[in-house]
Amino acid sequence: MSTGINTIANDVKLGKNVRIYNFVNAYGCEIGDNSRIGTFVEIQKNSRIGRRCKISSHTFICEGVTIEDEVFIGHGVMFINDPDPSAVNPDGTPQTDEDWVCVPTLIKKRASIGSNATILSGVTIGEGALVGAGAVVTRDVPENAVVAGNPAIFVRDRR
Ligand SMILES: CC(C)(COP(=O)(O)OP(=O)(O)OC[C@H]1O[C@@H](n2cnc3c(N)ncnc32)[C@H](O)[C@@H]1OP(=O)(O)O)[C@@H](O)C(=O)NCCC(=O)NCCS
Repeated sequence: MSTGINTIANDVKLGKNVRIYNFVNAYGCEIGDNSRIGTFVEIQKNSRIGRRCKISSHTFICEGVTIEDEVFIGHGVMFINDPDPSAVNPDGTPQTDEDWVCVPTLIKKRASIGSNATILSGVTIGEGALVGAGAVVTRDVPENAVVAGNPAIFVRDRR
């Protein structure tokens, strides 16, 4: 791990030769061997990043996200795990971990996600797929497909 101004909690399972740049906040997650994590990335508990991945700066990886090996995540990519979020319960008390259900997301091997994309909860992005910059991915993406737009639609097969 490279040194810097990071908050890497003791419960993070770090693989070998992971490079973490400045201002990363990670807790309760797993990061595989030889992966690189850019500045201002947050990685929440119960998320997993595989081996040889590149996570670019300003990305948010939330609880329930699984990223397989050799995946590229662009800058400012937002993952989502709660399709109907609320700050409070019906009685006005603040919500806790027990008051909502985390909906998981899967990014398969060698997929690439363009900068500023939003990946909605419950989606699987297929092996080798490419998500365009700024896309809003609302449904599963087939392997080796290129998708773009809001909502993201099929553009072509990936070369
Ligand atoms: C989606 C993407 C893969 C398409 O690349 P491409 O197949 O070479 O497509 P083109 O540039 O020839 O564009 C084809 C059409 O899609 C549109 N398009 C391209 N990228 C788009 C995007 N991100 N969102 C919406 N539309 C897009 C183009 O305007 C063009 O439309 P037209 O046919 O009406 O003129 C690419 O533009 C992209 O967004 N790559 C991600 C880059 C990135 O975020 N890198 C991160 C690290 S720098």
